[in-house]
Amino acid sequence: MEILGVDIGGSGIKGSPVNIETGELLAERYRIATPQPATPQAVADALKELVQHFKWKGKIGAGFPAVVRGGVVETAANIDPSWIGTPVCKLFTKVTGCDTHVVNDADSAGVAEIHFGAGRGVKGVVIMITVGTGLGTAVFIDGKLVPNTEFGHLFYKGMIAEHYTSDAVRKDEDLDWDQWGKRFNKYLKHLAMLTWPDLIIVGGGASKKFERFSDQIKVNTRVVPAQLLNEAGLIGAAMFAAEDL
Ligand code: BGC
Repeated sequence: MEILGVDIGGSGIKGSPVNIETGELLAERYRIATPQPATPQAVADALKELVQHFKWKGKIGAGFPAVVRGGVVETAANIDPSWIGTPVCKLFTKVTGCDTHVVNDADSAGVAEIHFGAGRGVKGVVIMITVGTGLGTAVFIDGKLVPNTEFGHLFYKGMIAEHYTSDAVRKDEDLDWDQWGKRFNKYLKHLAMLTWPDLIIVGGGASKKFERFSDQIKVNTRVVPAQLLNEAGLIGAAMFAAEDL
């Protein structure tokens, strides 16, 4: 089955048709700069442009950087506050004319990694952490997702964890990889102490630089980089839409 997979981020909206049985992209990824301000209507219009680019008529699955429960956006940590309470699935379906399913971006990336990447066949508790502007998390138990976990918002050292060790923080505070890796390690230890996962998968931009900070990671749990890199979000979103989750 083919679904248009989309990854909605703070700077870009990327999409491609996905073969959800194999996880393969069926066309070159197309990227549109996220409109600023990224209000619901502006993002919906950008999504429509993506749909027109692919002349798409089928289902769409989109990963979105917030909690999405029952088709409604519930949080807005790194997005325009006007999203809160927006029935995002309905809005996107109306504007694009295509049946659109929207899920949390870390959950969608995690689903792709569990099926086709670093979490394939792993039993027990797996936590995927996406390191980007924010810290997104996806928790799996024997391959089944517990949706919308927000462990990037754990309190650590008196602040929200994603304000301590996201990729945005690394850039803003000009931390080198050792300095950032030490912080990330402390966060992982805290998270692992609370959740005791069998495997932690590190995704997002940081997964590409894993070897630059892996020396600093001393958690009593296996920690591995994601394998699907930039594509996990849109592949997983397409899989969600296919299963009507
Ligand atoms: C949001 C999460 C999201 C993560 C990554 C966080 O700020 O609260 O819902 O998954 O950023 O985009």
